[in-house]
Amino acid sequence: MLIIIFACLLLAAVGPCDATSCSATTSWQQTEGALVKVSVGPAGVWGVNVDNQIWYRDDTYGTATNLGSDWTQVDEPRGSLMDLDVGDDVVWGITLKGKLTCRKGINETTPQGEKWKILKNKAKDVAISPKGQLVAINELGQFVYREGLSSKCTRKGKWFTDTDSSLNLTQISVGEAGIWAVAADEKIYHRPGSMGDTGNIGTEWEQVSGALVTLGVGKDFVIGANNADQIWRRDGVASSTSGGTGWVLLTGALKVVDAYNGCYAWGVNREQDIWLGTF
Ligand SMILES: *[C@@H]1O[C@H](CO)[C@@H](O)[C@H](O)[C@H]1NC(C)=O
Ligand SMILES: *[C@@H]1O[C@H](CO)[C@@H](O)[C@H](O)[C@H]1NC(C)=O
Repeated sequence: MLIIIFACLLLAAVGPCDATSCSATTSWQQTEGALVKVSVGPAGVWGVNVDNQIWYRDDTYGTATNLGSDWTQVDEPRGSLMDLDVGDDVVWGITLKGKLTCRKGINETTPQGEKWKILKNKAKDVAISPKGQLVAINELGQFVYREGLSSKCTRKGKWFTDTDSSLNLTQISVGEAGIWAVAADEKIYHRPGSMGDTGNIGTEWEQVSGALVTLGVGKDFVIGANNADQIWRRDGVASSTSGGTGWVLLTGALKVVDAYNGCYAWGVNREQDIWLGTF
């Protein structure tokens, strides 16, 4: 505690002390099962396995800080996805044909939801914030989005394409800490002005130091994995420092990692093992 106060006094000289309160030390717990993709949000922990089957982790709806109890397969055999992202009472995903889809009917009593709605839009990646900001990457690697915070599971809503940027984006995430993405060359970008989960897309992409293959946006940090499966956390994401203040290398090795609130993250490693890390 004394160290934190001291660090804040030092920081106060250069800026407000709003550094993340999460620890640099991580404790990883493994759950049973095997996945290649995992996402965490208000509607709990969801994942996709190597056969594109979709799984929901029981008892993580609203409480994703715990390991949950069991894996429930969602909507066999129609439900097959390449990837997914968990929001509040909604999950968005990418079908095997590359189309956007969303899960209807998710709530506390039916956390696995009711059915998939498939859109005609194609996308390489999709992300939904806790409050419903919907962003994606189209087949050309461009940033696309729906306006505001409207995005429960509906086909309605106009999509906008960011044609100002020539970046070839590969993966995107959105949350309290704003809109972040990685490009095909593994460079990392964020959009200043997109913080706070207000539906604002912010200004043009701004590069952040480092290199990652995938990332997930948390409350005041961003967590990601690089091409050597190292796990890095970008700390100090705040209104005055929307690109964060520094990288922390966490213990462990993951291929995909996601976060949304609090000091924890879910991930999968090269062996498809599933991990919950608290820090
Ligand atoms: C929860 O969703 C199911 C459909 O998946 C619906 O039948 C049920 O009425 C909903 N419950 C509440 C409390 O909204
Ligand atoms: C964008 O990157 C992907 C690899 O992720 C590559 O297949 C594609 O050709 C690239 N597109 C452009 C326009 O460079």
